[in-house]
Amino acid sequence: MKFLTAEPFRIKMVEKVKKTTISERQQILKDAQFNAFRIKAENVYIDCLTDSGTSAMSNEQWSALMLGDESYAGCKSFYKLEESVKDVFGLPYVQPTHQGRAADYIMAQIYAKQGKYAIGNMHFDTFRGNAEMLGALPVDYVIDEGAKANNEYHAFKGNIDLNKMQSLIDEKGKENISVVIITITCNNNGGQPVSMKNIREVSALAKKYDIPVVLDSARLAENAYFIQQREEGYKDKSIKEITREMFSYCETATMSSKKDGLVNMGGVLATRNKEVLEIANQLAIVHEGFITYGGMSGRDMEALAVGLQEVCEEDYLEYRINQVKYLGNRLKEAGIPIIQPTGGHGVYVDGRQFFPHIPQYEFPSQRLVVALYEEAGVRAVELGACAFGSKDQTTGEPIWPELETMRIAISRRVYTNSHMDVIVNALSHIYSNRDQYRGMKLIYEGRITSLRHFTAGFELL
Ligand code: F0G
Repeated sequence: MKFLTAEPFRIKMVEKVKKTTISERQQILKDAQFNAFRIKAENVYIDCLTDSGTSAMSNEQWSALMLGDESYAGCKSFYKLEESVKDVFGLPYVQPTHQGRAADYIMAQIYAKQGKYAIGNMHFDTFRGNAEMLGALPVDYVIDEGAKANNEYHAFKGNIDLNKMQSLIDEKGKENISVVIITITCNNNGGQPVSMKNIREVSALAKKYDIPVVLDSARLAENAYFIQQREEGYKDKSIKEITREMFSYCETATMSSKKDGLVNMGGVLATRNKEVLEIANQLAIVHEGFITYGGMSGRDMEALAVGLQEVCEEDYLEYRINQVKYLGNRLKEAGIPIIQPTGGHGVYVDGRQFFPHIPQYEFPSQRLVVALYEEAGVRAVELGACAFGSKDQTTGEPIWPELETMRIAISRRVYTNSHMDVIVNALSHIYSNRDQYRGMKLIYEGRITSLRHFTAGFELL
């Protein structure tokens, strides 16, 4: 019989956090022009801006650091990392990078082509930016259930719509599609998983037309856990059996190790194609570092080698996914509109439903980010009108995104459920006073619209 479960670890070291008063936070917000990215981390009580590079490392990872070999070429730590990556991914060739976007850069140089389409479920910003700079045409073909912040249950809202993919191939011709990239889990719509069936079918369709498939696998273990829990035929498979099957359907994988690597820095490009490896090696030498470190120190490669193994442990994944679910369930009980079911790395609150009286052009989700920080010192991030809004190339008219959310990203092994309760209480309080909030006006956005959320400035209306 199973009793209540708690964190499958003991907390051996702690970091103090500072509490601020509401009037201090109001001043901090003003000074930051109401942009959460511009708030100093030391002034944040619970930091849910990102789950990236924020994991707590285990005692085993810390002790592995001491084994780090800092040689430039052929360093021992590289071979340990290579072994660990091969074990989890089942792919034979490995190039480390300093973080995920560096692997995206290399991957884009190889697979994104000027004037050609790159199909994805929802491309992450860093690949999209790289692709656009190369003149490629990234398109998001996530299934309709995943493209809207609706609350209907679908076990795999990160799936790619095969019909949309087939139509593009028919319409444009296979020679005009250079790659398919599946992001597991799909970050932009709630950390939603992709099923094994979908990965298999997308891969089969791509193969029929000789289009290579890449997995963007920052959150590979979380995706594998959802497959184990939700997909028929996988309940008795181990996490590693599942990860290896996922990668058996792709040619190449990129990974930001700052998420499921359980480390604070690092990235990986893994492939089964020797030619791809050779190009990746050379691009790494120019941009990252020699092929046996790619911008990572030996000690960081040691910690990542261990982290990749730990993230595949089922006790860990059960705790991880259930902590996110706990937060989601409590918010749901409080009547707060969230994307359901909750995904892998955070809870996404629907800004339009939360503040129905604030139009999208007045940034409802950003308003919620500001309110949450003001009330409780909790920092979340807007993924809506500011982050995903764009402009018509010819008329300059704004284009508003379908998804309008505030992401509460949960760091791995960092916060307890008491922290989750603080978030719930603060959001419930804001929700009960929601009529009193007005929207916001964007007063600074910088030159590149797709990057404006990082540096934007706002005024409260
Ligand atoms: N791919 C995905 C799916 C990501 O979520 C990220 C980063 C990257 C690539 C880039 O990796 O940061 O190591 O260079 N996502 C972070 C986030 C920043 O907050 O979601 P990186």
